[in-house]
Amino acid sequence: MSAIAQVKAPVGQAPGGRETTSPVQALGETVAQRLFPGHLELVPGLNEVYELELALCESRILTDSEIVRHGAYFASVGETPTNHYLMCRGEPLRVADHSSSRLRSFFQENQFKTGYGTHGLFPYRGKFHPQMTKALLNIMGLKPGETVLDPMMGSGTVLIEARLMGIHSTGVDASPFCVFMAKVKSEAITLSLAPLRAALEASEQVFQFFSSRSPDDGGSKSPATATGNVSDLRKWSDEPGGRPRKEHWTVVDLPDGLEAGPVRDFLLLAYLDSAGYAERSQRKSHLVQFKSILERYVFSVEKIQRVLSGVEGDLGTTTPTLGDARKLRMHDECVDGILFSPPYSFALDYVSNDALHLRYLGIDVDELRSNMVGLIGQTPRERVENYRRDMESVLGECNRVLRAGRLCTIVVGTNNNQIGKALDLPPEKVQGTDEFLTEAGQRQGLKLVRTFTRQITGMANTMRTESILVFQKIPDA
Ligand SMILES: C[S@@+](CC[C@H](N)C(=O)[O-])C[C@H]1O[C@@H](n2cnc3c(N)ncnc32)[C@H](O)[C@@H]1O
Repeated sequence: MSAIAQVKAPVGQAPGGRETTSPVQALGETVAQRLFPGHLELVPGLNEVYELELALCESRILTDSEIVRHGAYFASVGETPTNHYLMCRGEPLRVADHSSSRLRSFFQENQFKTGYGTHGLFPYRGKFHPQMTKALLNIMGLKPGETVLDPMMGSGTVLIEARLMGIHSTGVDASPFCVFMAKVKSEAITLSLAPLRAALEASEQVFQFFSSRSPDDGGSKSPATATGNVSDLRKWSDEPGGRPRKEHWTVVDLPDGLEAGPVRDFLLLAYLDSAGYAERSQRKSHLVQFKSILERYVFSVEKIQRVLSGVEGDLGTTTPTLGDARKLRMHDECVDGILFSPPYSFALDYVSNDALHLRYLGIDVDELRSNMVGLIGQTPRERVENYRRDMESVLGECNRVLRAGRLCTIVVGTNNNQIGKALDLPPEKVQGTDEFLTEAGQRQGLKLVRTFTRQITGMANTMRTESILVFQKIPDA
């Protein structure tokens, strides 16, 4: 049949009984029009299948006013812009004038996905995708006033997102640096702006203050590790007799008004962030990095506070805690949902990655390593075996602390390649991390209700897919 004849083919019935339409009619309708009611407009840049699937779930679970308040994938409901749209629009994260065009276009492209709120403070490796996190909290049926747990919270993406949505959150991590980071990032949402602007004015003095306190390769136990309390980090770094070597001690004080806990912690996070950049890139001095990072941090806080001042609804409370996901210090059935991303076996060495920052905080990295899921064991084979044993305990704990009938969602990469190497088997012959966790969850009493698959792009990554596993805690019969 000629092409012209095909275009003119009448609307009708395909052999299987399915209704067909003309090419012009088919081309006139988008997937979004097919899936969503006309008054819901999607955010720009929504271009992956799993995102459309999550958006579809949101549109079916949330009322129109809930989409406006905490939907992740919609720009407007009728004439009303959503809070997500308002948080993300405008200039994305401020990047320094000298930044590369690659970095700039990354922030532009990901404007509605990653950089909004205080998520852009400290780019923690292995961090959750914030927009997806928001969608998953919605899809798990969490409502303002309820409580979500992230038992391996890393930089606290779940805590920040829950806070913005009015959901209370508890976060646990074995690394004191993560507890510190999650606390600063979630508190920054309501931090007073005047002292932050003053710190920008006095950025050299602030830089000198933290530089004069850098410990040499401390290595001994800090009070933070001993008591599990983040405020001890501050107490410790306040102490002139603490980690720093006396001969490196130059007395430089913080400008007046900046000594108070949360502001000082915010500045310290910017300092540690810039130390990481300065170590990786020899092109700019640590001080230059610090100034531009602090400027970006303050810009993010100003932006989110501007948006929140025009938005109704309370913020959720956040409780970041030092602890072990294998043995949670929590009561049975005390949370309304669990959302987390465990280490993908030993794909990332979080202790080596954060060594610079951990040492600054006086944390014993060897002791920390012995508690980190995925890093325990002498050989790669031992690490895989221990990872599986430990994740079995983590899932048992998740099942214990979750209220019956509620959902537990895990985001994890396959990691067949590394596991195959560790076990000396071809990747297709080993059980990927996602398959292992699917089975382990069910062994621990959780029922798998849905798996979403997400493609991982980027040449540097050895994993190609990530799974979002949604489990439900089955009520006792
Ligand atoms: C994939 S990261 C989580 C990233 C996080 N979703 C975010 O958005 O930043 C996994 C986290 O598990 C933590 N972890 C490892 N072993 C742990 C344990 N025994 N208990 C609690 N957390 C642990 C690591 O410190 C790391 O921060």
